[in-house]
Amino acid sequence: MCGIFGLISKENLEIGEIALEGIKRLEYRGYDSCGICFQNGGKLTIRKVSGKINNIQEKFNIKSLSGHLAIAHTRWATHGAPTEYNSHPHTDCTGEIALVHNGIIENFMELKKELQEKGHQFQSETDTEILPHLIEDFLKNGASFKEAVIKTLKRCTGAYGIAVCYAKKPDMMIVARKESPIVIGIEEGKKSYCASDIPAILPYTRSCYILEDDELAILQPGEAKFYNIENGMNEILKEPEYIKWSVDDAQKNGYEHFMLKEIFEEPRAIRNTLNIKKEDIELFAQHLLSADHIYITAAGTSYYASLAGKYMITNFLGKYIQSIECSEFQNNLQGALEENSVIIAVSQSGETADTIEAIRWAKNAQKNIKILAITNIVGSSLTRYSDHFIITRAGPEIGVASTKTYIAQVITLALVALEIAKIKQEVSPEDLENYYSALRSTPTIIEQFLEKNTAYVKHIVTNLEKNINYFFLARGISIATAKEGGLKLKEVACRFIEGYSAAHAKHGPISLVREGFPIIFIAPPDETYERLVGNVMEFKARGGFIISVVVESDKKITELSDVTIRIPQPPTQFYNLLSPITFIPALQLLSYYAALEHDLDPDKPLNLAKTVTVH
Ligand code: F6R
Repeated sequence: MCGIFGLISKENLEIGEIALEGIKRLEYRGYDSCGICFQNGGKLTIRKVSGKINNIQEKFNIKSLSGHLAIAHTRWATHGAPTEYNSHPHTDCTGEIALVHNGIIENFMELKKELQEKGHQFQSETDTEILPHLIEDFLKNGASFKEAVIKTLKRCTGAYGIAVCYAKKPDMMIVARKESPIVIGIEEGKKSYCASDIPAILPYTRSCYILEDDELAILQPGEAKFYNIENGMNEILKEPEYIKWSVDDAQKNGYEHFMLKEIFEEPRAIRNTLNIKKEDIELFAQHLLSADHIYITAAGTSYYASLAGKYMITNFLGKYIQSIECSEFQNNLQGALEENSVIIAVSQSGETADTIEAIRWAKNAQKNIKILAITNIVGSSLTRYSDHFIITRAGPEIGVASTKTYIAQVITLALVALEIAKIKQEVSPEDLENYYSALRSTPTIIEQFLEKNTAYVKHIVTNLEKNINYFFLARGISIATAKEGGLKLKEVACRFIEGYSAAHAKHGPISLVREGFPIIFIAPPDETYERLVGNVMEFKARGGFIISVVVESDKKITELSDVTIRIPQPPTQFYNLLSPITFIPALQLLSYYAALEHDLDPDKPLNLAKTVTVH
């Protein structure tokens, strides 16, 4: 939700180009409007546009602008339409303070009223605009720039990551964080950067400081000083984190879109994630083995990864795992959260507001709850609020729709499941080795699939182009695949889909089926297969156009299908358990080509943002 980028340099430089590049790298966080403020010779210049980031270059030739300080913002609108006047940076009445913000100031209405009564003039409908006006007010009353920012933030409730500059303090930028991420990179003695996420500063430094909640940093060229907002007097010492990602990981590298590149990176994401430290996997397994109650929570794609993982873990653990969408976690468990529970929280970004809120609420219940987190982002909020965490090794994901990070999450959960099997010793050593061997083969299966089938999947999509509605149906563990595959098509190709249990679809959804209605069945040859055959027949009998995703040796469902997509994996129980990993690339590819068929940008689905930091 919104991306912030800031830079302060000792020397004047072509700051327009750098600022533009910075917000482009954050475009996946929001892309409905953008703006940049430059400081040159004690004067602030602000440029804003609605629509895509490229519009700002086309309209103002931003790249030609020089200066020594810039703050920039790409927006996902919450308060006020995505117009030019609602775009950030926002300023105070004097135009001397400019500020960009990611998050929501919940008490902005009261504060706005108070400021208006004092004579402040507002130019936008945003919650953000109260911030520069409050700072202005405190400055007028004699506060220093730093004090004014601190006093302002103390008056606000809600979430913020902010970067603010002041024309009268041209050698300084202030950034602060509460629940919305801010990372800081330093090129010693020369330049300081801030951003909402690591990829924006990766071209300049791999060592970055991660602001914690209620922290503020004063950036000067090539240095940063950190303070606590509650106690702004004493400087805090922070250690930088070293980021292993390379700049290339966050570039398209010859692919037309990030989504396609990231699908093709899945084998590498799996191989890297399989190398997660054994002790971390074992620690997760031990916690689950000793837990009285287990919950798993997440949002969107991460939730579907959790559903797949829940099946895998339950298979060996023999305990029920309750999966609850994070936004409903508290509502479901109000007064019913059990003592000695373990909660597994899964989030690519580690910043999803509802996931964070769910685990913080559970932790505050004082019931000896342990939080085990799985996230892709080092230093994210989720790592801070959990008891133990595992970082998946998918690398940076720029496409808004999650692809390789889903796979890395499921791989991590599969590793935990197999570790439980190993500890419990209820599976024979041969079978355990067969499961591990199947897990190690998943990258090769996906590579072979992509090599043999990419053109074929593209061809299928061309023939399906006219359809607006789809069912994605499955049974057992593959329901997770059906839901995730369907979500991808919904997100990037704007088709209406229902991802559902094939058995349950008889209890309502089947009434929609007419001649030619496309139904995608996810059909690995597991214990649900024979019953799924029956479900395929039910839908075929009503005129459904059957597309099935099956293993290469499949016969029965293939015969019943109009189109099949074949996954090159052996038809054994060891591979079937891992089919959420090996079957999903087919559906991701299908969605990718469907987006292209409809002239949509698969990297930037309408109305979506990759990191959802509002409730
Ligand atoms: C779908 C997608 C979203 C996210 C969801 C949770 O492709 O990306 O549904 O999965 O917003 O985000 P994280 O995993 O960052 O918590």
